[in-house]
Amino acid sequence: MKLTEMKEWKALEAHSAKAGKARLRDLFAADPKRAEKFTVEAAGIYFDYSKQRVGAGTMNMLCDLAEASGLRGKIEAMFSGEKINVTEGRAVLHTALRAPKGTVVKVDGEDVVPQVHEVLDRMEAFSRKVRAGEWKGHTGKAIKNIVNIGIGGSDLGPVMAYEALKNYSQRGLTFRFVSNIDGTDFAEAVQDLDPAETLFIVASKTFTTLETMTNAQTAKDWALAALKDPAAIAKHFVALSTNAAKVAGFGIDTANMFGFWDWVGGRYSMFSAIGLSTMIAIGPENFRAMLAGAREMDEHYRTAPFDVNLPALMGLLNVWNNNFLGAASIAVLPYEQYLKRFPAYLQQMTMESNGKRVTIDGQAVDYQTSQVYWGEPGTNGQHSFYQLIHQGTKLIPCDFIAFSKAAHSLGRHHDLLMANVFAQAEALAFGKTADELKQEGVKDWLIPHKTFEGNRPSTTMLLDELTPAALGRLVALYEHSVFTQGMIWQIGPFDQWGVELGKVLAGRIAPELEGKAEPELKHDASTNALIRRYRARK
Ligand code: F6P
Repeated sequence: MKLTEMKEWKALEAHSAKAGKARLRDLFAADPKRAEKFTVEAAGIYFDYSKQRVGAGTMNMLCDLAEASGLRGKIEAMFSGEKINVTEGRAVLHTALRAPKGTVVKVDGEDVVPQVHEVLDRMEAFSRKVRAGEWKGHTGKAIKNIVNIGIGGSDLGPVMAYEALKNYSQRGLTFRFVSNIDGTDFAEAVQDLDPAETLFIVASKTFTTLETMTNAQTAKDWALAALKDPAAIAKHFVALSTNAAKVAGFGIDTANMFGFWDWVGGRYSMFSAIGLSTMIAIGPENFRAMLAGAREMDEHYRTAPFDVNLPALMGLLNVWNNNFLGAASIAVLPYEQYLKRFPAYLQQMTMESNGKRVTIDGQAVDYQTSQVYWGEPGTNGQHSFYQLIHQGTKLIPCDFIAFSKAAHSLGRHHDLLMANVFAQAEALAFGKTADELKQEGVKDWLIPHKTFEGNRPSTTMLLDELTPAALGRLVALYEHSVFTQGMIWQIGPFDQWGVELGKVLAGRIAPELEGKAEPELKHDASTNALIRRYRARK
């Protein structure tokens, strides 16, 4: 049934007319137990959503919507390997990447879990060799530098996880990540590296992506210019891919390939072979701990009732803020420097998944789908864009993420960091009234400028410590929140047709820029003029 015609949706619409105007100040004043009632702790995450603009009625209605949308059955369909990515005819089984040995998950009648563990074991053996200095380059020198070449899910997960878990990494190894087709990215990544000590990990699910293939070819040329011998490729290049034929075609021996499968979406692939750089950095034990953390969240999502189910709650709160309070974007604000790439990682996961305008049946939606995700680590954002969140005209719900234990205990730093995250959520929710300012003796004319309206919703996630397991839990939390939202909106979160047109047009334009002869241009007038100007001046 059409979402907007469902009685549960209509009930929320009617409810939001009144409840949407409720003020957090009043809600907290009316119920001393509010913080307790709207906090859930599961899988190591203390999830306080009491500063969201919801009441018990709102949450019941949202959970009813989830039930009526068949979310429970859809979760089961995903976990059990049904081909829920219908436009590509694929199962969606990133959860199988963290399934323990012995679990059975079948795709087309075949249990995929043994394959997952076979690849993990090979990754482990390879990582151990590199970490121990036993994987030698062509000249006999040990590998010291690891350069991951990939883009989208083949870059963002690895770079985010490397940065997040740098404190667990083997510091004697240098890690670089090259993604952009802009030659600057490659040039800067390798400018101080010795080719004899450098391993390239070419990460591409399809092994056809223009950026990655171009960068990989440049890497090959760079390595061979120094090492001379084509036999060096086997020592300095490995591939992470689903496409063995293309890997071999590129000149990488498939013995040096770590595979994965079409049922792992690019943006859901950081726990697959795509995580090889992560495993080399943090070691197999830590990598497996990260998998175990994600698995904990998987089990929680699959079994917990929706009203105490973190990914379901997170997803439903986003639906509430997006569709009923009109919040078009969401800020993800980790108060943890190591999570500096987490917002960028989430941008692909959330927006490439749920940035859709038709339902799974191809009908245009008449409601909003994915919010725009963005963010920066605290406290940097406070001295930049928080002004708009506090006093601007847009409603921007915030996800605060913080850890009780400091990664580095340095004087007052961590207490001050935590004071700031708690203060921001408090200020956003409760603001500062004109009366309060008056009592402080603020001059009348300044009062409108200094008033904080408050009532700006946020969720605070408090974890004990940023460990590999904690990162696994956080990533799986967001993955399943994205799924929850996609199922409510009746869209398909696992394809990405919206990226295709630009690729096709770039393929058409590239020869028009590169050719010697003046091309016959058949684009629009603006594009034609840009191409001509570029050709004249490059
Ligand atoms: O163009 C988008 C996309 O297909 C992403 O979904 C994907 O993560 C990225 O490109 C990279 O793809 P691949 O791993 O196949 O190189």
